[in-house]
Formats: sequence, C-alpha cells, structure tokens
Amino acid sequence: MLHIANRVRPGIDQIEPYQPGLTDDELKHRYGLTHVVKLNANENALGPSPLALAAIRNELAMLHHYPDGASELLRQAIAQFHGVAVDAVLAGNGSDDIIKLLSETFLDPGDEVVMPSPSFSQYAFGAAIMRATVRKVPLRDDFTYDVEAIRAAVNERTKLVYLCTPNNPTATILRRSELAWLLERLPEQVLVVLDLAYHDYSLHPERVVEDAVLLADPRVVALHTFSKLYGLAGLRVGYGLAHPQVWSYVNRVREPFNVNRVAQRAAAAALQDEEHRRRSQAHAQASRTYYEQAAVDLGIWAVPSEANFVLLKTGDAAATTQALMARGVMVRAGFGLSEYIRVTFGTDEENEACIAALREVLANR
Ligand SMILES: Cc1ncc(COP(=O)(O)O)c(C=O)c1O
Repeated sequence: MLHIANRVRPGIDQIEPYQPGLTDDELKHRYGLTHVVKLNANENALGPSPLALAAIRNELAMLHHYPDGASELLRQAIAQFHGVAVDAVLAGNGSDDIIKLLSETFLDPGDEVVMPSPSFSQYAFGAAIMRATVRKVPLRDDFTYDVEAIRAAVNERTKLVYLCTPNNPTATILRRSELAWLLERLPEQVLVVLDLAYHDYSLHPERVVEDAVLLADPRVVALHTFSKLYGLAGLRVGYGLAHPQVWSYVNRVREPFNVNRVAQRAAAAALQDEEHRRRSQAHAQASRTYYEQAAVDLGIWAVPSEANFVLLKTGDAAATTQALMARGVMVRAGFGLSEYIRVTFGTDEENEACIAALREVLANR
C-alpha cells in the first residue's frame, strides 16, 4: 500500500490538473468523424511561419546536441526586434513556462496574486503550486477592465498582478491610459505581468504601447508567445521582457535547457517572417468582421474582439459546445461563463463551417 497522500506538499491536492480541450484525434474517434474544425485553442489558422519551418528542417540533423541553455541567438533576435538589451529578454518553453517561473521565483505561501476574471488559468495555477492566494477581480459586465477594483485588490502581500491584454477568453483590451493609471498607484513590491499573447492582433488606438518607457519600469514584465501569431504552438516557445534584475533571479530557478534547439531556431526565423506576420494579422481582422456580422445575423452578441478569437453569447455554453462537437466543430466553453463560447478564428472555410453549424444548433433549441 502506497502512503503517498500524506507526503505530498500541502496544497497540491487542491490543484485541478489542467484539462486541455479534446484533440482533433479524440474528437474524430468519439464521434466517428473523418474531419474536424479545430477552433478551441486560439491557434493560428494559417499554420506555422514558412521561415520557421525551413529553420526547423535545417536544425533536425543537430538534435543529438543539447540546445544553447541561454537561448542566446534567439534572445538577441528578440532584443533586436523590440529594441531592448539582450539581458532584458528571457526565453521560455512557452509563456506558460515563464508564468510558472515567475511564480516559483517570487511567491511564498500567503503571498497574493491579483488577476482579472475570467482570464488565463495558468496565473492561478502558478499561484496554487506556491500556495499563494489568488484574488480574482471580475471584469465589468461588458468584459472591460475595472482598474479601480484591481487597485483595491492589491495590498502589502501582493507580489504579482496579471493583466492579460487582449484578455483570454474575452478578447477585450486594457487601455493604455488604464495601465498608466494603475502603474501610478501600484506599490513598488508588485510585479505587473502584462500578458501580451494576443497583443499583435489588436489595432485598437488605445491598446497598450510596449515602448522603452514602459519597459524601463522595473515593475513591468511583458510576456509574449510564438504560439499564436507565429503559429508555433506545438514547438513551445515564448519570451518575457523585463528589467534584467528580474531575470537574474528567474534564471536561478529556470531549467538549464528550457527551450529546445529546434524551437530556438524556429522562433528566431519566425520573427523575421514579416509576410507571415502580416498575413496572420490581416486574416484575424477579416475573420473578426466575419464573426461580428454572423453574430448580428444570428441575433447573438459577439464581444468586440481585439484578438484571433471571439466570445459569443450563445446561451447554454455546455450544450452548445457539445452540439457543435457532434457536428465536428471544436470550440471552448467554461471560464465560469455559462452562456458564452470562445471561438478561435479558423480558415475562411472553417469559419463558415462553424457559423453554419452554430446556426443549426441555435435553430434546434
Ligand atoms: C493569454 C495567454 N497567455 C499565455 C498562453 C500560453 O502560451 P504558450 O503556448 O506560449 O505557453 C496562452 C495560451 O493559450 C494564452 O491564452
């Protein structure tokens, strides 16, 4: 008989293992389908950057060698891209890795983390593994940020404040003026983690500007990922920009080879792929217009989106998701929002298939 339970660190049994959406293979198997439309993980409908694919092919013969543990070339490419010092860049095995590293570096039991709600689940996960307390601050009814409530949730125990813009799953942004208002009022011990996973999809005139002034604030950490705009979710690579001192501590906690060598090369190449970036942005803009119009036609609310996905108020999200799945369309529900589904923008054909299926589902109610 194993007596594991009483040896596990306190709090671990409270963590729900991450539940990813069904994979396309699982869905095909479950419903006997040959083709599925996968719109449940905010991936890039256009696929990976072709320049990244070429770099991956070139690197394959070197897989018997360990990666560069410091991801030096990739960090140089990122530093050049953003106009920051190389020491201001940390590369991660996805931005998930960096969220966990920040939690492990900064959080003690009883420390507090402030995050919007609903938002990306990994912020609370990082807090949970360190036994920190999470304060979830609801977005307003229209899913915009309530910065006064965020400020009010911060106290002397607060170490991390997560601000996800555009926010997952609502695709709404934090305005530049709201960020400035918050930074003026947040105490020195707080790290403000701006999760910019979908930032490049937004053209909003009031979106946060990630300039030298913002990044010079030692409290600011900006997170980016290659999983969305660059279409490299399967490779796992992301990065953070912050004051080098922040990374000097995080680097003590980081695994020595946290970014594999294929990912390092592919990500550096993807950054140079201006054409893929532009096409991905343009496709998201066009898809946004498509879904907004489709929502009007269906008589449902589409939360105005600044990302590569949209939140649709369909009513009964669980039933809608199931009914869509049975028709081969995978979307995401949950997030504590019982009436909304989150739909990632697919190819034009996939978007049309999704709306056709949704029309049927809503008509059958
Ligand atoms: C807001 C946000 N941040 C971070 C991530 C994680 O990205 P990565 O694939 O780089 O770990 C996601 C992925 O869905 C996300 O939605």
